[in-house]
Amino acid sequence: MNFAVLVSGQGTNLQVIINALKQRKIKARLAVVISDRKNAFALKRSQKAKIKSVFVNPEDFPDREAFDRELIRTLEREKVELIVLAGFMRVLSPLFIRKYHHKVINIHPALLPAFRGAHAIADSFHYGAKVTGVTVHFVDEKIDHGPIILQESLEIKPQDTLARLERRIHSIEHRLYPRAIDLLVRGKLRIDGRKVKIL
Ligand code: GRF
Repeated sequence: MNFAVLVSGQGTNLQVIINALKQRKIKARLAVVISDRKNAFALKRSQKAKIKSVFVNPEDFPDREAFDRELIRTLEREKVELIVLAGFMRVLSPLFIRKYHHKVINIHPALLPAFRGAHAIADSFHYGAKVTGVTVHFVDEKIDHGPIILQESLEIKPQDTLARLERRIHSIEHRLYPRAIDLLVRGKLRIDGRKVKIL
């Protein structure tokens, strides 16, 4: 199965996916990495791993749909069947989501439906939550909303600083995301409404 990873930033999740591919823990082909930011460090990681790396500049397109149509062209060219969002900071249009229904997944650094949005770790920390975690989910037309594939919780300890909590969350992400992708490519997930059954 050909898949794509969409990124905007550091790419630490992309890196663990690349490592899992090399170790044959995920048996699929990472056909293309696409970034909406030219200087995303994630692109350096994919180039180093000799994976096709594409920057699509949002400024070249009049609106969200036009940008997404360019994404679709790239994904079709590479015969991509699964799209993995890993720190991709743009909201995908309904056009895109409908085309790739149940074929787009995302990782979110909180226990959805709590703390949606782009600052989930800081939000949960400052809110004073005692428990938070990581969610891997299918992407639907609402933000941070689709059916949940995997979730793992962690306790926020009194000695946690925001930086320490971030590190703890990321280390869970780096374990959970390759596992979720492996389940998907091996056809081990069944979606029934909001519920995802692991076979
Ligand atoms: C992760 O915390 C992920 O949960 C969120 O964006 C961050 C991406 O980090 N969606 P990285 O670019 O993979 O290092």
